[in-house]
Amino acid sequence: MIFLRKLFLILAFFCLISLTQAQVNNTFNLMPAPAALKLNSNRIGLDQRFRICVNGKANKRIYDYASRFIRRLSNKTGIFLDKLQYVTVKDSKDISSTLLIKIHRPGKLELGEDESYSLVTNAKQVIVESETDLGAIHALETLLQLLSSDANGYYFPGVEISDKPRFAWRGLLLDVVLHFMPVDVVKRTLDGMAVVKMNVLHLHLSNDQGFRVESKIFPRLQQVASDGIFYTQEEIRDIVRYADERGIRVVPEFVVPAHTTAILTAYPEYASVKRDYKLQRYFGVFDPVMDPTNEKLYPFLEKLFKEMSSLFPDDYFHIGGDENTGKDWENTPHIKSFMQSKGMKKYMDLQTYFNARLLPIIKKTGKIMMGWDEILQPGVPNEVVIQSWRGNESFYGSIKKGHKAILSYGYYIDLIQPASYHYLNDPMPDSVKLTDQEKKNILGGEATMWSEMITPVTVDSRIWPRTAAIAERLWSKQNVNNVDDMYRRLDIVSLHLESVGLQHLTYKDKLMRQLANGYDTKSLEVLVSVLEPLKIYERNEGDTMYTVFSPFTKLADVASPDQKLPRIFKKNVEEFLIQTSPQLEKSIHDELMIWKENDSEFKKLVVNSPVLEEAASLSENLSLIAAAGLESVQYLHDKKIPGETWLAQKMEIIKRAHKQGGRCEIQIIDTVQKLIEKAAGK
Ligand code: ACM
Repeated sequence: MIFLRKLFLILAFFCLISLTQAQVNNTFNLMPAPAALKLNSNRIGLDQRFRICVNGKANKRIYDYASRFIRRLSNKTGIFLDKLQYVTVKDSKDISSTLLIKIHRPGKLELGEDESYSLVTNAKQVIVESETDLGAIHALETLLQLLSSDANGYYFPGVEISDKPRFAWRGLLLDVVLHFMPVDVVKRTLDGMAVVKMNVLHLHLSNDQGFRVESKIFPRLQQVASDGIFYTQEEIRDIVRYADERGIRVVPEFVVPAHTTAILTAYPEYASVKRDYKLQRYFGVFDPVMDPTNEKLYPFLEKLFKEMSSLFPDDYFHIGGDENTGKDWENTPHIKSFMQSKGMKKYMDLQTYFNARLLPIIKKTGKIMMGWDEILQPGVPNEVVIQSWRGNESFYGSIKKGHKAILSYGYYIDLIQPASYHYLNDPMPDSVKLTDQEKKNILGGEATMWSEMITPVTVDSRIWPRTAAIAERLWSKQNVNNVDDMYRRLDIVSLHLESVGLQHLTYKDKLMRQLANGYDTKSLEVLVSVLEPLKIYERNEGDTMYTVFSPFTKLADVASPDQKLPRIFKKNVEEFLIQTSPQLEKSIHDELMIWKENDSEFKKLVVNSPVLEEAASLSENLSLIAAAGLESVQYLHDKKIPGETWLAQKMEIIKRAHKQGGRCEIQIIDTVQKLIEKAAGK
């Protein structure tokens, strides 16, 4: 591979070559992959003389970004680029600077703004050109990913890139209610988003468990409905400013009429049912709901939403609208008779009535209303934007009805599914026939990080690096869809993400030290490297009912989604089963040996660390299936076929290994099963 890459670069010295998508990805590992890239023979070496000049009419945003770019470049290379350099309009005069950024006009941070850019290395400098500073920001991230090195030092390679996003809305929902995320967590999330060119942070700010923004008009919201855990208005402005500096819009969500236990705890007079409201400690779907028949509710919401929307300059305001059980409406006589008097047949008709009352309130604040796909009911005006989460039908249904829509179904990163699953979830697949107008209604997509099972310690590992695969799906061309290649680049982008302060790679060490109770963590590391937390909603089912006070410092928290080692092991085994080779056999053998022998060490650790007892069965099962795998490799090596009894015994081991422990499951079971079956001649 390295040879091929070199060959391309050498060829490029003689001619300008356009690369196929696979060659682009292979040569530079960019993520998201740019729309077009050619190689040329130039190369700009990096040394202390590196300078940036911003030319043209630009927003201050790009000067600050360029200044931070210099620091990041300096940190990556160890070169003291320039101790005094802060890029400002005043200092930005020398158009022969190493990096010349030409901008045509200040960018507006709004949906659909031009984010395209070109990036060209000529004989003397790198030239970035973009319509707006938002495009230039993306170019700088591309340039950081392009930074290369060899025996002669660091350099920017000779390229001609022309790039623009496929979708205008490339979002990440961060739920800061179920578990609160302090400002610094939000900021590093924004830094990660900028690395992969995402441009919308959707903050989920209220739910049954709390209301997370200070209100000066309704202070009981933070006084009695937040456990004292909320953002002050100044902190919200700080987050919005920080996001703006990175070209990222912030869209707030305040869910109504259901998921409002917190608001009703503070202001029970707006509830459908009179009861003693307390903040919800469990996670799930609950009956408390606002009373749409109460005329006083609407002035309350008008004042609250006016205040909240004033903190968020973005054009969009999300009113939730999801998961109303309708029970508190159906069981309340005055609400039932209201529905009858208006000819409403189902409780969702009442929610549609409520939304119709809400729409002018939101519009009065100058915002565009959006909500989850439950609100897509007959009679909902087209101007309301729909976010689909329950299935593709609602997504294409909204588009066909004339709504603008955002896809989140298939991007639920809290469900611990692999990056490949999300990556192949295209908002506009060829299999769905859409008119040009319907296509225009697809704004893009959003990954959703619901925080039932995460804390500030683990959140990065649940978002990153998988979300980079979603970012690429939303930015890059539809035909950039090779899963193996995505995983190869994901490992590299993961390091870029770490370099901006994300802790998805390091959080494990800290948690494992705590779990090992001061003892050597090696055997725990070996076990954890093949574990993933239970997927979809399984972790919260069965014997453990999690609450906001549960410990999230255990095995299932250390285990991360989409583990690399089982993925590599699987690939090796698949290759081995097609074509054996001594190297592959050795690598598979050595890995199985480590797993087989780990259990005796792990058992010693558990004696001193009872919190790990829940992992004991997993460790034992890992050892047993690894032993079965080793026997299989030996049979294959010797070209002997074991009897049916052997096979039956091994399949029993495989069956037992599927049993979860510590809310985790072992990830190499199916791969070992393939080895066993092949050995048995199946
Ligand atoms: C949702 O996940 N309840 C929108």
